[in-house]
Amino acid sequence: MNENQTLINWYPGHMAKTKRLLQDQIRRIDLIIELCDARLPFSSRNPDLDRMISHKRRLLFLNKSDMADPDISQAWIRYFRKLGTEAYLTDAVRMRGKETIGLIERATKEIVEKALEKGVRKTVRAMIVGIPNVGKSTLINRLYGRSVAQIGDRPGVTKSNQWVKVSPYLELLDTPGLLWPRLDDQAAARRLCYIGCIKDDVVDLPDLTIHLLEELCETVPQSVKDRFRISDTGLRGAALLDAVCAGRGWLLKGAQYDYDRCCSVVLDEFRAGKLGRITMEKPPEGEDREKMTDGRA
Ligand code: G4P
Repeated sequence: MNENQTLINWYPGHMAKTKRLLQDQIRRIDLIIELCDARLPFSSRNPDLDRMISHKRRLLFLNKSDMADPDISQAWIRYFRKLGTEAYLTDAVRMRGKETIGLIERATKEIVEKALEKGVRKTVRAMIVGIPNVGKSTLINRLYGRSVAQIGDRPGVTKSNQWVKVSPYLELLDTPGLLWPRLDDQAAARRLCYIGCIKDDVVDLPDLTIHLLEELCETVPQSVKDRFRISDTGLRGAALLDAVCAGRGWLLKGAQYDYDRCCSVVLDEFRAGKLGRITMEKPPEGEDREKMTDGRA
C-alpha cells in the first residue's frame, strides 16, 4: 500500500482548514463534538485534536454503533469514561435530533448556569469534528432536522461557515471540521481503508482485501465461511482470494478467478455490514493502554 505518499498529499489541506477554522472560531465555541467510528474507536480519531482544543469541553460520539459489536462498544464506552471522556454510542442515520440536543444541553449545563448567575441567557455554540466518512454531515443534518451539510466529501462544494440555530439556545457551525486520520501506523491506515475512511484509489485493492479477509478469518471465522462459502478459514494470502472466488463462483472466461469482482464485492459487503456487527479494535489493557491513549483522554 502506498498510502503514506498519496494521503499525506491529500489530507493536510483539509487539516489546515480545520485548524484555521478552530483558531478563528475557538473563542466562540463552547463545545466540540468529536465523531469517531465505533468499529475503530482508536484509529478513527486524530491525536492532534487534543493539542488544538485541550481546554474545550468535548463530547465523543462513537458513531455507526449500529455496525459495531455491541459488547465491545460498551467496553469502549467504559474505557473512555474511565479516562474522563464523555463518550456515547450513536447512530447518526437513525438518531433523534432532540435526544442528541438533550445530550449537548446536559454537557454544557455548567457553562449555561455560570452565565445565568451573571444574568445572561447564553446561547451555546458547538462544532462537529472528525475524520472523513465518520458521519459528521449526517449528524449535522439530523440535528437541524433537514439537509444542510453535504453527505460525503465533494471537492468544490462551497461551505458557508455559518452558526445556525438548532434549538432556542443552541447553535451549530454548519461546516464540520475535517481531521486527518492516523497514518503513522500501517495496520491502522489499512483498517481505515476497510471501513471507507481512506479512499480505495490510493491502495492496492487485492492486498487490502487479503488483509481484510485474514483479519475476518481470525475474528469472525463463521461469518466468513457463511458469507463467502469457504470451508478453510486457516488459508492466508492469495489462496484466500482464490477460495472466495471459487466459493462464490467469481470466474472469468478460461476459468480464471475474477479478482477485481472479488475485491470489490468483499469490501462492499463488509462495509454494508453483511458479515454482521464487527469491531476491529478492542479497548487496550495494561501496557497497551499507555501506548494507545498517547496520554490523552
Ligand atoms: P462525513 O461527513 O463525516 O464525511 O460522513 P457522512 O455524514 O457523509 O457519512 C458517510 C456515510 O456514512 C454516509 O453513507 C452516511 O449515510 C453513513 N452514516 C453516517 N452515520 C451513520 C451511522 O451512524 N450508521 C450507519 N450505518 N451509517 C452512517 P453514504 O451516503 O452511503 O455514503 P458512502 O458510505 O457511500 O460514502
